[in-house]
Amino acid sequence: MTSPVRLALLGCGTVGSEVVRLLHGQAADLAARIGAPLEIAGIAVRRLGRDRGDLPVDPTLFTTDALGLIKRDDVDVVVEVVGGIEPARGWLVEALRAGKSVVTANKALLAEDGAALHDAAAEGGGDLYYEASVAGAIPLLRPLRESLHGDRINRVTGIVNGTTNFILSAMDATGAGFAEALEEATELGYAEADPTADVEGFDAAAKAAILASLAFHTRVGAADVHREGITEVTAADVASAKAMGCTIKLLCIAARGADAAGREAVSVRVHPAMIPLGHPLASVGDAFNAVFVEAEAAGPLMFYGRGAGGAPTASAVLGDVVAVSRNRLAGVRSPSESAYADLPVRPMGEALTRYHISLDVADRPGVLEAVAGVFARHDVSIATVRQGPAGGGAAGRGEDADLVIVTHVAPDAALAATVGELRGLDIVRSVASVLRVEGGL
Ligand code: NDP
Ligand code: HSE
Repeated sequence: MTSPVRLALLGCGTVGSEVVRLLHGQAADLAARIGAPLEIAGIAVRRLGRDRGDLPVDPTLFTTDALGLIKRDDVDVVVEVVGGIEPARGWLVEALRAGKSVVTANKALLAEDGAALHDAAAEGGGDLYYEASVAGAIPLLRPLRESLHGDRINRVTGIVNGTTNFILSAMDATGAGFAEALEEATELGYAEADPTADVEGFDAAAKAAILASLAFHTRVGAADVHREGITEVTAADVASAKAMGCTIKLLCIAARGADAAGREAVSVRVHPAMIPLGHPLASVGDAFNAVFVEAEAAGPLMFYGRGAGGAPTASAVLGDVVAVSRNRLAGVRSPSESAYADLPVRPMGEALTRYHISLDVADRPGVLEAVAGVFARHDVSIATVRQGPAGGGAAGRGEDADLVIVTHVAPDAALAATVGELRGLDIVRSVASVLRVEGGL
């Protein structure tokens, strides 16, 4: 039998411990698929004394010296499931420069400084694989970076954060407010003790950067992504969406388009948006993820599955381990990063979006004209207007009225300026809700 492929496992928490279980449980099949057995050379952790239950692994393999483990001559592949920027970046750059292959689930690092990792991989000649970094178990990055390389991707729209999808789904199902739904998500173990990265959209923004880089052959980092979380989404917003036959989702959207000078560009954003119930992403509930890819020749493609959790994420990690191990045995590496297009990333203000705006206005002659005038001044075209008595009660000429306006597509800056001016009008008592709209309505 060929000599084993030796792995350094960095991290043995939620994902790492499941990687160990799969390596143990599937050892014979993995060896047959690769053509050589996989062997764990060592496992780097933070706390040697931590109780790791019945993990099927030799306890003497654990170490707190991650760098020492990476530098060992008998390590071929480094699997990083620790997370965070440092020390992970230093470890992986060291491993890649030394010619080792790296498998990582670290979306934060890839979005923050993917360039450093890709450059180090090119220098050392090893592979850099990161399927688990976006949408957990869903095979998504491999299709983008291999299967669709003969096509042209125009748009990627995804639900890539399970925690926020659970919260928004709960708000939609029960009418609960954000705080109440977050509490439920925490009790059920979906939300972490500090949910900031999820609810403020940082996690989804990192994933959006990775998806956009692969889809558009362009380096896109976390700083290029416009990010809004879900903390401001109210029960009233959800009710408003329902009244329109829609639901609210935290979307990551990466799209091609032209910039202000007419040059081809991309926009990458993460924000809550209303989508019609008939949209392929509308029925993605609970903590599931789904990504909708629109390609020129292939047309629409939908990827769906579990975006988080130890075993689902470990499945994606192991798939990468098999791929890089096969490459090492064959003496080849996968194609390097494809960033040749180098498209500019345009600012959010230039992204083309649609708004759903709910206003509480004075119910008297001339109000509609004044409101419509604000839209016209900002060159924003109105698609639909619906007016009813304030609070949705019985029809009649009260003092106030609810006015719900949905726009056609316009630059986000023009829509934001429209809302700003509406807020300043005397006849507008309050702007009850502003939501972007995606998909036909
Ligand atoms: P955990 O917090 O459960 O585990 C982290 C592991 O890293 C622990 O074993 C910890 O050691 C170890 N560790 C932390 N700091 C150090 C250090 N300085 N030196 C050595 N070891 C260290 O994280 P997860 O398993 O949840 O996540 C791992 C990665 O996978 C992250 O990048 C995350 O974003 C990504 N990911 C996670 C998903 C999930 O569902 N959990 C889904 C998709 C991606 P110790 O055990 O001693 O504490
Ligand atoms: N916190 C992430 C989520 C884990 O909720 O989707 C997977 O990256």
